Amino acid sequence: MKKLVSLILAVTAGLFLASCQGQNNIFTYTIDESYTEYITLGTSADYPPYEWPMKVSGKQTLVGIDIEIAKEVAKALGKNLKVVNKGFEFLLDDLENGKVDFVLAGMNPSEERKKQVDFSIIYYEANQVILVNESEKDSFASLESLNVASLRIGAQIGSVQQTLVEEHFNKAQTQFIQSVPDLVLRLSNKQLNAVVVERPVAEGYLKNISGLHILDLQIGNPEEGSAAAVQKGNTELLAVINQVLESLISSGKMDQIIFDMTELNKN
Ligand code: ARG
Repeated sequence: MKKLVSLILAVTAGLFLASCQGQNNIFTYTIDESYTEYITLGTSADYPPYEWPMKVSGKQTLVGIDIEIAKEVAKALGKNLKVVNKGFEFLLDDLENGKVDFVLAGMNPSEERKKQVDFSIIYYEANQVILVNESEKDSFASLESLNVASLRIGAQIGSVQQTLVEEHFNKAQTQFIQSVPDLVLRLSNKQLNAVVVERPVAEGYLKNISGLHILDLQIGNPEEGSAAAVQKGNTELLAVINQVLESLISSGKMDQIIFDMTELNKN
């Protein structure tokens, strides 16, 4: 009996381990063979051109604007880079709990989030847009026209877009889910009527999926942008990140990264 119990325990432990490894949400990038330490980035790779999964030379990895920036930060620190890929809503808690050292995820430095973490300078400005089906675009001439009980509007869970949808479309049916590609799929399947995302993300989907349309309506603050987050009080790392960002911006390298990653996102 004792043997049987330990056998069952061993098998369940094995299954548990296998399922953990199966998640495979950690990616490593060797910046320099001579570096011995790692810095760990937290991101949510469902947001091209900011970050998304891609096979590079036959190997599954994460690519995007934020990954390129993270590599530059790692280089400036003389460390290699580890990237933990998680649902967007978990990123700031992971940062607060020290599971990751910094977060880059197309994240807006909102006042609410500033209570929990510290943010870098803005590295990429982009506003929010409403993505709809081309076939329905003429029915949506104003934000009010979308705030109707028969319509279904989606956004990523834990995002500023969720807040915008809650604010503007309180009469519509709302769907807040974790994966942005899933939201877009539901939109193109007509399970949703509209999805709110950052303009560069919407434009990427427009190029890759036919039948979608960006409404010519303003939602949210038009002067928003993304910033990196660090643990509250981590001024040392924040100073390095800000230095890296400033030099990427002033040298024009940031524009190049944004251009390259936007191109890479066209399939
Ligand atoms: N910019 C939005 C926010 O800060 C959404 C970012 C979503 N990012 C992602 N990697 N899925 O809430």
